[in-house]
Amino acid sequence: MTATHEEATPLSRTEEVTAAGCPVVDFDFTQPRPATEYFTVLDEMREKSPIAWNTFGGGFWMLNRNALVQEAFQNPQLFSSSATVPTIPEPDYHFIPTMENPPNHRLYRSVLNPQFSPKVVAGLEPSIRRDCVELIESLMDKGSVDLVTDFAMVFPTKVFLQIVELPTEDTDKFVAWVEDAFAGLGNPEGVELLQRAFAEIRAYFTALLAELGANPRDDFFGRLATSNIGDRPITDEEFLNMSLVLILAGLDTVKSQLGYAFYHLATHDDDRQRIIDDPSIAPAAVEELLRAFAIVMDGRRVEEDMDFHGCPMKKGDMVMLTLAAASRDTLEFEHAEKVDFDREAVTHFSFGSGPHRCLGSHLARLELTVALQEWHKRIPHYRLDPSVGPDEIVESGPQLGLSKLPLVWDTASVVR
Ligand code: HEM
Repeated sequence: MTATHEEATPLSRTEEVTAAGCPVVDFDFTQPRPATEYFTVLDEMREKSPIAWNTFGGGFWMLNRNALVQEAFQNPQLFSSSATVPTIPEPDYHFIPTMENPPNHRLYRSVLNPQFSPKVVAGLEPSIRRDCVELIESLMDKGSVDLVTDFAMVFPTKVFLQIVELPTEDTDKFVAWVEDAFAGLGNPEGVELLQRAFAEIRAYFTALLAELGANPRDDFFGRLATSNIGDRPITDEEFLNMSLVLILAGLDTVKSQLGYAFYHLATHDDDRQRIIDDPSIAPAAVEELLRAFAIVMDGRRVEEDMDFHGCPMKKGDMVMLTLAAASRDTLEFEHAEKVDFDREAVTHFSFGSGPHRCLGSHLARLELTVALQEWHKRIPHYRLDPSVGPDEIVESGPQLGLSKLPLVWDTASVVR
């Protein structure tokens, strides 16, 4: 008798996950959807599947509940930052400090933190307000704008260049680089644009580094170029890398968050009226808008095989920390999906949590607050451009943001 020996075919990750009883989803975050729809889709997913295996983009886990996301943020030894884009488990780049892990990560943060402390940022308020007012005044007689391109991208870029004392004439250049870089992050067709943008940013900062070598300066990049990482001087490579990360992390994020804030206010007259009537509620409004529209689809890499709340995670698996779902978790917040400026103790993950919590959160909060206050003081009554269909205002990941936000207003209603 001949024994037939059939090799058992190894189970695919999806089959293993299904066998363990964990939910499987097919969630493509790159497809354009009407404004704010991703948040609703993720709300539904969170309620059905606190953890899910997503088959999209090579496969990765999604942690959708607030407590699970917090657990991952607090355990960098299990959920490392060696890769932070859920669809890119083996990146051919290494961003600093984003992809550093403890204990080295702290060395980089201790160089950057003092430059973005609450005290330093508070001291910047007059110049941030001045930039903001100047930009709004240049737009208010137009009666219509694409808020995303005409305001939300330009304002944080100008502010950033002022803070770091680079020429504000370079604003358009930086705006274009950031647009191109993010176009390529979620979409393979944009990779060429991304690579070109990275190369041009690098060339810009290489020239700056040479200039700082010849004429040392006591400004942001001058101090960065002469800083120490632990007990040794920063290398040129680290300087260039960190400069690129600051540009990528600090500009597009504020743009996207402004887009959602103004979309909400253009479509919710009561909330807009509250800011017009009482600009001092702007910080609370900003906090709630950050919570309701958390834009970053953060990622971590699993560092060892483990059972995580009943799901079989393997070393090398990628995990999405679904900040949008976690910040609207019905287990944490009452009427979590609603924007409520009176909400108390708003704790959210829009800026992440744990060691990598956003370096620029104080600056971002101030920029958003100033933008809401100064805009509504001058252009209180605006609405979505009725000639643009609601389905034309779309969003997509991996960093959620509106493609455009056409607003119109009666120029007679402008306040001078
Ligand atoms: C509303 C606007 C912003 C949002 C929503 C945002 C969000 C985030 C999030 C979620 C993280 C954590 C990433 C992770 O854990 O992997 C992060 C990190 C970071 N952010 Fe922001 N950010 C904003 C504005 C800014 C600004 C204005 C700057 C400018 C300095 C900045 C610089 C950074 C840097 C350098 C990191 C990396 C920190 C680290 O890895 O230690 N961000 N941000």
